[in-house]
Amino acid sequence: MPTATKARAAKADALRVRRVRASDMANVIALDAHVTKLPKPDYWDDVFRRYGKQRLHERFFLVAENRADRTKPRLLGFIIGEVRVWEFGSTPCGWVFALSVDPEMRLHGAGNALLEAMSAEFKKAGVSKMRTMVARDARLPLLFFRSEGMMAGPYIQLEKDLD
Ligand SMILES: CC(C)(COP(=O)(O)OP(=O)(O)OC[C@H]1O[C@@H](n2cnc3c(N)ncnc32)[C@H](O)[C@@H]1OP(=O)(O)O)[C@@H](O)C(=O)NCCC(=O)NCCS
Repeated sequence: MPTATKARAAKADALRVRRVRASDMANVIALDAHVTKLPKPDYWDDVFRRYGKQRLHERFFLVAENRADRTKPRLLGFIIGEVRVWEFGSTPCGWVFALSVDPEMRLHGAGNALLEAMSAEFKKAGVSKMRTMVARDARLPLLFFRSEGMMAGPYIQLEKDLD
């Protein structure tokens, strides 16, 4: 096998996506705090309780890790989503509401692997549509989601200030 092909195969082999565990949460919280500059441990405790432990047939909290060093796997990122039914008059569909990859480990396929794994979970759960929401001026997630085949959908978001 050519060296470049071997290197690619080794990298793909080292990348693993699985369900989150309680022992991942310190790393998830640290990654989120690093990326958003806003530590929120209470929020993450609540998210882990709801998406890492309950209704697991329709709620998915997945992590990607690099297992090149099997004694010390490294967290690369996480994704969270769930199947929602009949909201906004929609037939059941899968919503992705959080996705983050360690800035030092981006552009190596972890985001793609997480979204692919989430798509597979949604399909297993019986839905055939995946949705997410992105700020109009958030260029990076727009580039990413577009590259993953996600396009503008049939809904528009409405809001107003409440005084
Ligand atoms: C968006 C994000 C999850 C992508 O993770 P990643 O591991 O770097 O993504 P991948 O390596 O799997 O990239 C898949 C494709 O996305 C596109 N893409 C990703 N980052 C890009 C960038 N900086 N510029 C242009 N295209 C980009 C490319 O088409 C890429 O495919 P290619 O490498 O074959 O060209 C990551 O940048 C991130 O965590 N960003 C901050 C948080 C965020 O925006 N989350 C999403 C909304 S909640």
